[in-house]
Amino acid sequence: MTTATTRAADARTRPATVVILDFGAQYSQLIARRVREANVYSEILPHDAPWSEIAKREPVAIVLTGGPESTLADDALGIDPAVLTAGVPILGICYGMQLIARDLGGTLVASTHREFGAAALEIVAPSALTANIPERSRAWMSHGDTVAAPPPGFVTLARTARCAVAAIGDPVRKIFGVQFHPEVVHTEAGKTLIANFLHDVAGVAPAWKMDSFVDVTIAQIRAQVGDGRVICALSGGVDSAVAATLVARAIGTQLTCVFVDTGLLRAHEGDAVMAAFRDVLHLNVVRVDARDRFLARLAGIVDPEEKRIRIGHEFIAIFEEEAAKIPGVGFLVQGTLYPDVIESKTPGSKAGHKIKSHHNVGGLPEKMALALVEPLRALFKDEVREVGRVLGLPEHIVERQPFPGPGLAVRVLGEVNSDRLNTVRAADLIVTDEIEAATLSPRPWQYFAVLTPLQSVGVMGDGRTYANLVAVRAITSEDGMTADWARLPHELLERISTRIVNEVPGVNRIAYDITSKPPATVEWE
Ligand code: XMP
Repeated sequence: MTTATTRAADARTRPATVVILDFGAQYSQLIARRVREANVYSEILPHDAPWSEIAKREPVAIVLTGGPESTLADDALGIDPAVLTAGVPILGICYGMQLIARDLGGTLVASTHREFGAAALEIVAPSALTANIPERSRAWMSHGDTVAAPPPGFVTLARTARCAVAAIGDPVRKIFGVQFHPEVVHTEAGKTLIANFLHDVAGVAPAWKMDSFVDVTIAQIRAQVGDGRVICALSGGVDSAVAATLVARAIGTQLTCVFVDTGLLRAHEGDAVMAAFRDVLHLNVVRVDARDRFLARLAGIVDPEEKRIRIGHEFIAIFEEEAAKIPGVGFLVQGTLYPDVIESKTPGSKAGHKIKSHHNVGGLPEKMALALVEPLRALFKDEVREVGRVLGLPEHIVERQPFPGPGLAVRVLGEVNSDRLNTVRAADLIVTDEIEAATLSPRPWQYFAVLTPLQSVGVMGDGRTYANLVAVRAITSEDGMTADWARLPHELLERISTRIVNEVPGVNRIAYDITSKPPATVEWE
């Protein structure tokens, strides 16, 4: 193929691309997400990517992100000067705006008025960037330095009480800058501003869809894996399901999924996972029946951390045994999402106190020398669900509520044995059935039963009982990091309580958990 025809083929396959130059901002992926929401494709490159690298993507617009540094520092991070003269529309955000001002001849000052948090933004001059934005709205600020005077050719477009130059623009060169953060939800006009920049200033059509993400990702997986063999631990959760399905679309039978039946799953869960993945999606799935092994490892253990650690170790041991059966396996699929990535590498963040050892397969790649395939690394949870729908995953998987890796072992307080697992499983099924049958707004984000180690006195028929206390937990949340207890209707709680006490042997009392997180956690262990 000649270079010219290669370029033509690339242009057909590559969507119109916005390049985001990253200065180490906490919000870079959030900017990429907002660009996706405006139906435009973007790629994030390091801030110092040479123009030759950027030009290969034929960018239709460039966004310069914020960053933790000061543009006034001697060693301030910069960009290839060709970026500013290439004739491509540019939006600089926070540090990005200051860099534009600095490099194009504006004046910057290390501000005595640092500004963090909400500010009242006032539009002072009309522009395509701020079209349809109210004259006054709330914007989110986080900066020390400020632009004192915009560069020649630029006008000041907006201000706040503490920042006289909160947005600048040169409509001729189509270069704009905003001191505030349009990508965060607290900036009321943020989405409109980003859409204005992309669609009106840069003239990019809103043509990109999640389908395109799927196509691009499948091509990337093929390029990464080649003809290598890949394994994936399938939990039945939406992240591993979507990641595995994407990889299977890319490389078919080179992927083996391992589903470990720990015996700590909810009612019918193991069969449902197998039915969905093997029979509907036709993934290559190995089911490992490890119920006895987990019960043996948990015998007599009541300490929550000890339970979690034992389950994690056993899981890794089983997974290694399965991987050893696949000759030449070189890659491990993980359903890592962007929030996991930020939490692990936010600059300057101090590791918080360990609350619980969350179970995942994170220890595997180092031990087994496997390269990671993480197709969801740039996405947020709701976007993963959208990808799942594009891939045709069944709705019960796409909308599945979170379920902890250690499963029902952390919902059986005290010793875990098969009787106690059966009790919590039966109670949980009733909680789930009743909540799912009810019309609730908002719908709880997560709901389940917990078997406590408490016994209490009751009366059934004419006889005294001394039996188990089951707790019901239902929460509202956005991400599980914070949560509130769901205000379920009393009639629904009554039905749940009556059914559990009548239908689940060994239970005579039900409590509803009315604690938020913090101070409690979602799971009881
Ligand atoms: P906590 O109990 O920490 O739970 O407030 C927050 C959210 O995380 C889920 N959870 C886990 N998820 N592995 C997981 O993948 C785990 O070990 C684990 N422990 C808790 C919990 O169900 C809730 O949604």
